[in-house]
Amino acid sequence: MNKDLDMSADEMYWRMKIFDSLSYPSVIISPDKTLVGANKKFYEAFNLSFKEIYGKKCFHVFLYKDTPCNSDQCTISKVIKDKKNHSFTLRHHFRWEERVFSPILDENGDVAYVIGSMRDITQAKALETQLHGVKEFISRVIHSSASAIVAADRQGNINLMNSMAKELFGDYNGGEGKIKHTKQLYPPGKAKEIMGMLRDEKIGGKGKLIIPRTTIVNSQGEESEVEMSAAIIYDEKGNEFATMAIYNDLKDKVEVEKELKLIQKQLAKSEKMASLGQLAAGVAHEINNPLTGILFYASLLLERDDIDQSMQEDLEYILEDVNRCKEIVKSLLVYSRSSGSDKNIVQFNEILEQSLTLIRDQKKFRNITIKKDLSDEMMLINADTSKLNQVFINLVINAADAMNGVGTITLTSYKNKVVKKIFLEVKDTGKGIPHKDLSKIFDPFFTTKEVGKSTGLGLSIVYGIIEEHGAQISVKKTGSKGTTFILEFPMYFALEEEPSLCKP
Ligand SMILES: Nc1ncnc2c1ncn2[C@@H]1O[C@H](COP(=O)(O)OP(=O)(O)OP(=O)(O)O)[C@@H](O)[C@H]1O
Ligand SMILES: [Mg+2]
Repeated sequence: MNKDLDMSADEMYWRMKIFDSLSYPSVIISPDKTLVGANKKFYEAFNLSFKEIYGKKCFHVFLYKDTPCNSDQCTISKVIKDKKNHSFTLRHHFRWEERVFSPILDENGDVAYVIGSMRDITQAKALETQLHGVKEFISRVIHSSASAIVAADRQGNINLMNSMAKELFGDYNGGEGKIKHTKQLYPPGKAKEIMGMLRDEKIGGKGKLIIPRTTIVNSQGEESEVEMSAAIIYDEKGNEFATMAIYNDLKDKVEVEKELKLIQKQLAKSEKMASLGQLAAGVAHEINNPLTGILFYASLLLERDDIDQSMQEDLEYILEDVNRCKEIVKSLLVYSRSSGSDKNIVQFNEILEQSLTLIRDQKKFRNITIKKDLSDEMMLINADTSKLNQVFINLVINAADAMNGVGTITLTSYKNKVVKKIFLEVKDTGKGIPHKDLSKIFDPFFTTKEVGKSTGLGLSIVYGIIEEHGAQISVKKTGSKGTTFILEFPMYFALEEEPSLCKP
């Protein structure tokens, strides 16, 4: 006998009352899909009476069909089979409804009936859509940010990296890549230090930190400089819940700073060179007159008939040394640029070839191979030919000295139309320039060669001439295998052939 039938009329009455007072329309369905009852809310909502539903099949009332649904898709069949709740959502135009079906078990634990409730979830759905929209918007804002954004849980496990962060740090791949934890984003020990600073109220306020410049490490182990602001995210109870950091790459800033430093260095150098030039010009000018006097009077003495052999030899020594002094004075004047300049439009490689003919037969070059890798292209520059000769000769002589007269000098010329420059590289197989000397080689009178033989003016004269031509010279490479000097000259363009981006 069914135990339900044992209950008192009073209890039965209250159970019906409870069923009727449910705020959702609900129906009772027997396992053969027949409707056996419904609550008040149901009759109101569907505008039906008990008579109209009693004994009808669920597919008649709900789906207006004469045949049952496919049993695989029938939620009631699923409830009967699994003896547990099943639900689905329905959309009627702008209304959303959730239908929940629960089993009512008999004393044997079998499904005696199924109770179906229809809940209007339109408002909840609207909120859900709104929330989804807000989430989507925030996600778009985060991912399209020009700054790199990283968020992590309390343990430091990264759970968000926006596109810029992935670019900055590399292999993240939603936690499946190499990068998983915040400590991998910094040099060893740094992540802990940052967390300490974040928690320190005295630094940037509690849970906040701004570091104008710090070092980060990417998945390849490469370090770079960033500006960073970080924060601890607290939950509603004030407990630490997560951390987040925003990084701005300082690569461009670092580059500009480097360039500025270089320009400052170059400026300081050219200021030094200019004042040395003035000094040299003054000294050269002052020495020139007495030297001319010595030369004149020594020559007069040498012409006298009453001097003996030894005096004649002494006078010849005097004349030889005075002439050497005159050469030095001449060099000083070139260095100080006080000698005039005679510029013409010339073919770069021709001047280079001309300079080589001047030195080719010298004893110094007997055991030296000179390799030429000169561009076939037309390479015009506006230059003083004889000064350019001095530049090339000085560089080639220095190269020969560095190789102790044995080795190979390679001259490579080429042009780059984009930067509008003509390049010359002078490479030797000599002993190289020690690092400590690199900043001094262009200084006047700096020499590592035998005193008396070299004045140390060669490269300073070269530097002066190069500057006068709006060109640049530097050591591209140096080491035990040799040295390469690189020269960059501005390319000459006749006005009509000036390259233009607008020209087809
Ligand atoms: N190709 C090179 N390889 C190695 N060292 C070099 C080279 N060119 C220049 N140097 C170094 O730079 C110094 C300065 O060169 P610079 O031409 O100004 O003077 P110098 O050759 O010593 O004397 P000068 O040119 O007046 O005869 C040299 O003494 C040498 O130490
Ligand atoms: Mg020299």
